[in-house]
Amino acid sequence: MYILGINAYHGDAAAALIKDGRIVAAVEEERFNRIKHCAGFPVRSIEYCLKAAGIGIEEIEQVGISRDPSAHLHKKVLMSVQRAAKEIVRRRAIAPDNPKLRVITEEDAERVAAVASEPNGNGHAPGILQQVADRLRNAARVRDLDDELATALGISKTKLRARFHNIEHHRAHLASSFFVSPFDRAALLSLDGFGDFISTMWAVGAGNSIKVLGQVEYPHSLGIAYTATTQFLGFPHYGDEGKVMGLAPYGQPRFIEAFRDIVRTEPNGQFRLNLDYFRHAAEGVEMTWNDGSPLIGQIYSDKYARAFGAPRAPADALTDRDRDLAASLQLRLEEVAFHILNQLHRETGLSELGLSGGVAYNSVMNGKILLNTPFRRIFVQPAAGDSGTAVGVCYQIWNQLLNQSRGEVMEGAYTGPEFTDDDIVAELKRAGLSFETHSDHGVTQRAARDIAAGAVVGWFQGRMEFGPRALGNRSIVVDPRRADMKDVLNQRIKKREPFRPFAPSILAEHVGDYFEQEHPAPTMLMVYQIKPERREEIPAVTHVDGTGRLQTVTLAANPRYYQLIEEFYRLTGVPVVLNTSFNENEPIVCTPRDAIDCFLKTQIDVLYLGNQIVRRN
Ligand SMILES: [Fe+2]
Repeated sequence: MYILGINAYHGDAAAALIKDGRIVAAVEEERFNRIKHCAGFPVRSIEYCLKAAGIGIEEIEQVGISRDPSAHLHKKVLMSVQRAAKEIVRRRAIAPDNPKLRVITEEDAERVAAVASEPNGNGHAPGILQQVADRLRNAARVRDLDDELATALGISKTKLRARFHNIEHHRAHLASSFFVSPFDRAALLSLDGFGDFISTMWAVGAGNSIKVLGQVEYPHSLGIAYTATTQFLGFPHYGDEGKVMGLAPYGQPRFIEAFRDIVRTEPNGQFRLNLDYFRHAAEGVEMTWNDGSPLIGQIYSDKYARAFGAPRAPADALTDRDRDLAASLQLRLEEVAFHILNQLHRETGLSELGLSGGVAYNSVMNGKILLNTPFRRIFVQPAAGDSGTAVGVCYQIWNQLLNQSRGEVMEGAYTGPEFTDDDIVAELKRAGLSFETHSDHGVTQRAARDIAAGAVVGWFQGRMEFGPRALGNRSIVVDPRRADMKDVLNQRIKKREPFRPFAPSILAEHVGDYFEQEHPAPTMLMVYQIKPERREEIPAVTHVDGTGRLQTVTLAANPRYYQLIEEFYRLTGVPVVLNTSFNENEPIVCTPRDAIDCFLKTQIDVLYLGNQIVRRN
């Protein structure tokens, strides 16, 4: 049985396809249309999934999307109404218990839009009503998934024979962190910005079912608090939170008491935001989830700015205030996360944890969980953010709804497009590039030699990764022993802020020799302390606080990448390489063409495409 899972009209639109419970493909739309974190409907991802399976859409039996417009509808509508639209309630004569509330149509959206366009006729700001209208339109599209799918694929709706499901956002996140984990039973936490009116949900997974234990409702959200501070610090783009995480170790958490007031913990794992510091609950924040990068308006309030001074403009130099704010926010995030996790452990008594939601990309927080909670083993969904809900949807249907047994464990995230050597050779010829072809062993040997000699190596192999991390198939690889490599990469290719660290990939057998913790981190979502005596050996991947966001590499998960690092180890005695994603300032490369373009635009020294090697003349 084929099941298609979709994340649409949220950041990182994506599709995933499973067959009889095994992953066939999972991919993000940004990799095809080259728009970072692209929202909208993932039509090219769906087309790729079908192609990877060799089937047509008519062979799909179940389709799900990670949104349920009717979930918490009562609260969603109530909040919108309280905020802006008492007029709409009067005109529609609806009440929270009116069954009609469960139906949202395009017509409703148009009606609201019409009200919104009435100049001052209702006494409310048109902008806010427009937000309500946008929200209803978005919800209508999510609900009418079969229409959207048929239109996107350019086919008649009659060709679709699948059953359609709306899976609540956080249930999809939770499913993505359990059903493909190695655990039979696990405590589960989805720590997020928001989705279907919830920001945080925790649960217990056992066998093929998940039972929800608790949740925190919007507008209270750790993700939103983190994004608000990220904006205040002059990083305005969707997904910039990682920059603040990288900045935090340069500061002192001297604002921690203020942040304890901004995010307040409560009994039973609950927390609340002090909403005076934010705009999203009182005024609403403009958000756009159309066919482009998501846009999120200013979340922090005037009170926030009064508390900490003027917001930093993106071009301004970073000050101690900015670094200390980042440090305080990061510390508060960790405190609240451990507060929830310790409660979750008390409730479940389990030692295994499955983690998901956008906040689970905070690898610094993740790396401290084993030190600050009783959990002993952790599985973080490689695509912990919203793209991963496409996988979660598939398994929520397969395991929970259809009651099928489990069989898939995501040990890596190599679920995207791959290309044959014939494809690659054709593309190289088209680009007019001269190249050599070598055996598998010849390729890893030469690449290791190039890296040890100080070259910047573009490494394009096998199936593209799902989720934000390049894990050795779409990577740029350099020598971690060279302290200047960070600057070399930034000047020649990445153009990133100088305070951001680069990450190590290490042979799994050697983790204990270099790091203070040994728990596997196969998808680069854990930051551990590097042993003090090893830091000078690998300066290019040692952050200012002595940490590294490692990828533990096993032969089973990625043979060719493992062999590359093994060759490097043989040459240098160091079982570590620096691994950064293969891209300039754009989504990670997907096709050989993308890789060649990036090679030509930047100053990568050597390009390894499958078994082909291209050297810059
Ligand atoms: Fe989410």
